[in-house]
Amino acid sequence: MKILVIGSGGREHALVWKLAQSPLAARMWCAPGNAGIVGERLAKNGSPVECVPVSAEDFEALLDFARREKPDLTVVGPDNPLAAGIVDLFQANGFKIWGPNRKAAQFEASKAFSQDFMERHGIPTAQSGTFNEPVAAKKFAAALGGRCAVKADGLALGKGVLLTTNVAEAEQAIDEIMVSKAFGAAGQRVVIQELLEGMEISLHALCDGKVTKLFPAAQDHKRALDGDAGVNTGGMGTYSPAPFLADAQLAELGAAILQPWLRGCAADGIDFRGLIYPGVMLTKSGPKVLEFNARFGDPETQVYLTRLESDLVELMLASCEGRLADIELKWSAHASVCVVMASGGYPGSYPKGKVITGIEAADALPATKVFHAGTAFKDGRVVTNGGRVLGVTAWRPTLMEARDAAYAAVEKIRFEGAQFRRDIAAKALRVG
Ligand code: AMP
Ligand code: GLY
Repeated sequence: MKILVIGSGGREHALVWKLAQSPLAARMWCAPGNAGIVGERLAKNGSPVECVPVSAEDFEALLDFARREKPDLTVVGPDNPLAAGIVDLFQANGFKIWGPNRKAAQFEASKAFSQDFMERHGIPTAQSGTFNEPVAAKKFAAALGGRCAVKADGLALGKGVLLTTNVAEAEQAIDEIMVSKAFGAAGQRVVIQELLEGMEISLHALCDGKVTKLFPAAQDHKRALDGDAGVNTGGMGTYSPAPFLADAQLAELGAAILQPWLRGCAADGIDFRGLIYPGVMLTKSGPKVLEFNARFGDPETQVYLTRLESDLVELMLASCEGRLADIELKWSAHASVCVVMASGGYPGSYPKGKVITGIEAADALPATKVFHAGTAFKDGRVVTNGGRVLGVTAWRPTLMEARDAAYAAVEKIRFEGAQFRRDIAAKALRVG
């Protein structure tokens, strides 16, 4: 089979790496890819993965490419092209493509849509309100004592959520999003939720429009600094499994969210084929969904796919074709830990073009993989090219060993200004 992967981050490197292991994959492209993706080879025939210099949002050029090369399967990594309807476009032109269509991708593209859906279909979530203008939004925030999550409705590169703990902060956050338009048009509407406390986990489930297959639990570390200090980022590191959630608890939690979700999709005429990723807070008064994403998490993908034993090409085909009911997902018992190395300054502004050394030495360690995110080639050398640069991932029989191995690999890698959290998985090791 010929496979086209769309995207360029750490998630897409992990997708390409795993898809390339499938005996079904005979040729693979990634648009636009990165400096790590281009080094991958297919297990079946040793062919290199080819990076195509086309942006994930240039639909015309992507469709031209598909018409020329005729991929048998296209896999979409990021949220933006899904929200803009790439799946609908490819399907209308006769191409098989994995990911939710535009209507189904609204779970991520609009927080107001998701919040309304959860409330109508009985999915446990935070107390919330949706507002089109700041006065009513501020009144609602004040009624919550200013302890709020103020969220831009639309897509904002994972940065459109401001957490506040008093009324002044909440009012400032509302002004920032709705008046100063810090996240552009994404902030025309806001969703305000009560501020929840507890352990946050990521759930992932593969869906074929009729059934869902729940993954093991994972945990991301959203804040920039150790001890969950600093501002929210796209994600600074992950681990899986989550030792504080027993298998039976995870299954119960998955069912409490996914059963009403599937029923709601059927009732609302939503045919969701792809990956649904609820972000969940385990609060004292039970689990609550904070948001839905309609794609693989980044850097959750890095820890999931280093544990997945099943053939990912087969799973994606089954998801596209409505055949998941008969398929079992197989996971290794190993734990996996991913530590993100980011550019100095991220998630604010940061420099690009810093030379990276030590990736090969890190990759040479056993059961270790350095997934590239924001990297590029310059004069034959790998350089930084984004905020999150690398996802250094290791898998071992225990979480502690995986954590130690991931940090041993991080120690081998250098670039000017590199920043990373030193406490990835520490919470799980304390309570696990
Ligand atoms: P979201 O994009 O909605 O998941 O929000 C980004 C991050 O903000 C989440 O991963 C949480 O860490 C945090 N967050 C979102 N909503 C809430 C909430 N209601 N209470 C506390 N933290 C939240
Ligand atoms: N891990 C955070 C995200 O993918 O949204």
